[in-house]
Amino acid sequence: MPQSFDFRLGDLTGPRPETPDVAHTPASSAGDSRTFYIETFGCQMNVHDSEKVAGVLLGRGYRQVESLDAAKLVFYNTCSIREKAAHKVFSRLGEFRKRPDSRKIIGVLGCVAQQEGEEIFERAPWVNLVCGSASYSKLPELLEDLEAGNRRVTGLGTHTDETFETEMTRRDNPFRAYLTIIEGCDKTCAYCVVPYTRGPERSRSSALILEEVRKLAGAGYSEIQLLGQTVNSYQDPAARRMSFAELLVAVAAVPGIRRVRFTTSHPRDFGRDIVEAIDSVPALCDHVHLPVQSGSSRILRAMQRMYTREEYLEKIALIRSGRRSISLTSDIIVGFPGETEQDVEETLSLLDAAQFDGVFAFQYSPRPNTSAVHLADAVPEEEKGRRLAVVQERQREIQIVRNDALVGQTFEVLVDGASRRPGQWSGRSSSNRILNFASPHSDLLGQYVHVRVTRASPNSLVGEEVT
Ligand code: 5AD
Ligand code: SF4
Repeated sequence: MPQSFDFRLGDLTGPRPETPDVAHTPASSAGDSRTFYIETFGCQMNVHDSEKVAGVLLGRGYRQVESLDAAKLVFYNTCSIREKAAHKVFSRLGEFRKRPDSRKIIGVLGCVAQQEGEEIFERAPWVNLVCGSASYSKLPELLEDLEAGNRRVTGLGTHTDETFETEMTRRDNPFRAYLTIIEGCDKTCAYCVVPYTRGPERSRSSALILEEVRKLAGAGYSEIQLLGQTVNSYQDPAARRMSFAELLVAVAAVPGIRRVRFTTSHPRDFGRDIVEAIDSVPALCDHVHLPVQSGSSRILRAMQRMYTREEYLEKIALIRSGRRSISLTSDIIVGFPGETEQDVEETLSLLDAAQFDGVFAFQYSPRPNTSAVHLADAVPEEEKGRRLAVVQERQREIQIVRNDALVGQTFEVLVDGASRRPGQWSGRSSSNRILNFASPHSDLLGQYVHVRVTRASPNSLVGEEVT
């Protein structure tokens, strides 16, 4: 599990107020036959896709329910980045073997759907819909087929040049709005399923993005998170041909927007103009997530990452040369085929040199269709586990020192969680640090407050509100 502060999922610990942009359909008008339940696995892109799928369903008069039992339509939005994630979905589907319910319609969406395709019907014959993310724009038609009584419906094309635009999006987080600006991926990292499951790279037009940001600001959102597997590879299809850095500045300039985040960046496409934009526009958050994957140039070449250790460290130097102090987080994979002790040492020394504020480290998991699946010299599972623990321990030591140095500093946080204990709140700084803090005030959810750090641990910060 990630040992750093989690900036991907589950960031809402507080109550779930109505989203400002879409109201729920009242129960009475929907009726029980038009209820849906959706469970999401994986990255923020999936979380946001589920918000859009929910929007499509709400637009068709369905009502979202929080329990599987109460739902007529059950959707799993799946992740296949590592084998474990893919397994989880099949274990969910396996539950229906024990408790068959022919009244339910069961749909598998996302990366496992794309990867396994119609095989899913073989493994779990009670599944009715299999639809990959590149085909979500076809969802309304697929739903019509289901409503007409068709019991085997698929959307599995990846060569669509469409992006998933919907009339409505039912956003789960009332404070931060996710917004996909680029879908798919054209890189060819040897370990990664994304280019197969999400299809080729497609950027949305800057005009459409800015129109949506204005709507979101009007609906009360002050924080926008721009999403893409390689978000900074953005290529504007509109006549204006905005660069990614120009888009960041334009989004931040929309009245009402106080914070703009973006994830995930690819090191090769990370340029000085992004650092200059962050430097000159305070609303651009001072956090960059820049996955390195390995500290060894030899392994980076085998992974087809298109940069060396030295080039990555130059990117970091560039980010650190800015006037603002930018928090930096990363991803690491241990146990890629052929990885030696010496390569692990290089990853450890890169951690020392890079001084990340957080790292997600993973054991390499061979995935179907990827080029690495054919590579020799697999690292034994037990050894992968050992290497993972070593990497996590080194990063923990780094975070102890880095977080200790934050004690006494004050951060502005957007409050997005309330503890059950009265007077205890949780919020996120622009640098994406989670601060748990005490305040005598009530109704802080959604407010920006200043918090002074009083205590630090490797993975979290504790503080108190300052007025
Ligand atoms: N095995 C392990 N980790 C992987 N990632 C992507 N593919 C794999 C895989 N096959 C990790 C990378 C990526 C993060 C989202 O997941 O570190 O940045
Ligand atoms: Fe996967 Fe590489 Fe594309 Fe990231 S850049 S989504 S790791 S192929």
